[in-house]
Amino acid sequence: MARRPLIAGNWKMNGLKADGVALAEAVARKVKAGPAPADVLICPPATLVDRVAQTVAGSGVAVGGQDCHAVQSGAHTGDVAAAMLKDLGASHVILGHSERRTNHGETNATVRAKAEAAHAAGLVVVVCLGETEAERDAGRTISVVESQFKESLPSGTNADNTVIAYEPVWAIGTGRTPTNAEVAEVHAALRASAAKVLGAAVADRLRILYGGSMKPSNARELLAIKDVDGGLIGGASLKVDDFWAIVEASR
Ligand code: 13P
Repeated sequence: MARRPLIAGNWKMNGLKADGVALAEAVARKVKAGPAPADVLICPPATLVDRVAQTVAGSGVAVGGQDCHAVQSGAHTGDVAAAMLKDLGASHVILGHSERRTNHGETNATVRAKAEAAHAAGLVVVVCLGETEAERDAGRTISVVESQFKESLPSGTNADNTVIAYEPVWAIGTGRTPTNAEVAEVHAALRASAAKVLGAAVADRLRILYGGSMKPSNARELLAIKDVDGGLIGGASLKVDDFWAIVEASR
């Protein structure tokens, strides 16, 4: 079955009002001039979700947060609830990024609880998973991503409310990427896990993105790999020309 690609930009902790709005405007202009060969999502820092959502409204560009809390409100200083992101115009939220797993001690159980809250608020979750370099060197890649998949997704997960992003930790921001065969192996394993956990029909429609040092020069090759349904882009999503070259590479 043909899955429409999703090209998602994760701006991480980058952007003040002026440059965030300018970048969002530039992406929206490209999509409007379309037709784009992929669904396009941008995930600015929480501080910019409101402005970016207003900026791209009506353009076809979707907006997402980069994290949310596992409960919808309460005494959680500094946290952002899924319903708050939704209220600002976000339709998506990235969860379980390796930077959150590493820097904030998020476990698969944390990610699962957050995904449940995001689903309840009506957000599509982009759940990130991927092995560390030590895990790859130990030959544990497939077992690591399989257990992350099984343990990070709440019941009620389907192909409309969830996207998976395979991001090898050692490929993020390093300029290094796995070989095409290594990417294909992991994506096939994730598709098989999805069939086992969610059923064949959901697995067939579920989008599984690749992320980690994707850029204009390697995007076409990565996006052509079987079972790769788009990309989650960090650094290259901060320049409209690079980001758009990746969107075009999904054609
Ligand atoms: P880079 O594209 O900068 O390697 O980051 C990937 C990533 O972590 C996207 O979530």
